[in-house]
Amino acid sequence: MNLRGIVLAGGTGSRLRPLTKVTNKHLLPVGQKPMIYYPIEKLTSAGIDEILIVTGVEHMGDVVSLLGSGKDFNCRFTYKVQDEAGGIAQALALAENFAQGQSVAVILGDNIFHANLKSYVDKFMAQGSGARVLLRQVPDPQRFGVAELANGKIISIEEKPRKPKSNYVVIGIYFYDGGVYDIIRTLKPSARGELEITHVNEAYIAKGQLAYDIIEGWWTDAGTFESLTRAGEFVKNEPPL
Ligand code: DAU
Repeated sequence: MNLRGIVLAGGTGSRLRPLTKVTNKHLLPVGQKPMIYYPIEKLTSAGIDEILIVTGVEHMGDVVSLLGSGKDFNCRFTYKVQDEAGGIAQALALAENFAQGQSVAVILGDNIFHANLKSYVDKFMAQGSGARVLLRQVPDPQRFGVAELANGKIISIEEKPRKPKSNYVVIGIYFYDGGVYDIIRTLKPSARGELEITHVNEAYIAKGQLAYDIIEGWWTDAGTFESLTRAGEFVKNEPPL
């Protein structure tokens, strides 16, 4: 398939200290597996077999020891170090050579969900260019990137707004064409000092090239104690497809 996969597993995991004091958040257990297995298996079960793993310098050794070449997952892994936790868009920028100009499917390493990605991959491939994000309604939108919808389109996205314009949030599964790196090069760090993926998505909105789907089934991030516990309960009660 002409689509490469990227799992972003850097960041500091600060909201999960002390669990993340000596290890990477994405190596913590969710049910019977390390967290990072879930996003990897979501890519491989959608037919994506060239996968880049991005993580920080501190825990790259452990991540490689755990995952290896990819042969246990029926895929091939490439690894890239993100020197500092400078944001999701900065981590994605490291994929430019790996992507070889092709489109990419990006998953945040702490996003755990039920759905199979194949139908969304197919829609993105049919779209031909631009970007596609997945949305979901949540009770606590102020924790996320919040999408404002009108006439079947996303007209704005706000990162962690105090007064969310909707309860539809952009979850950590993104599809981008080869133009995404030029967009990232134009970004400036946000107030929290990060290159924001929301700013990348806003650039696609401005070009009229951001499509979306509402993801089916359960979804959660796992970056806080509450959501990590929830992720464990979800995978136990209804294992991911
Ligand atoms: O989970 C979906 C949300 O993820 C989106 O709704 C938000 O728009 C998006 O900004 C992001 O929000 P968070 O604040 O929850 O992101 P967090 O800093 O927890 O990072 C999520 C994952 O991204 C993390 O598990 C690993 C990866 N990451 C993050 C940073 C900051 C990196 O690989 N490198 C980084 O520098």
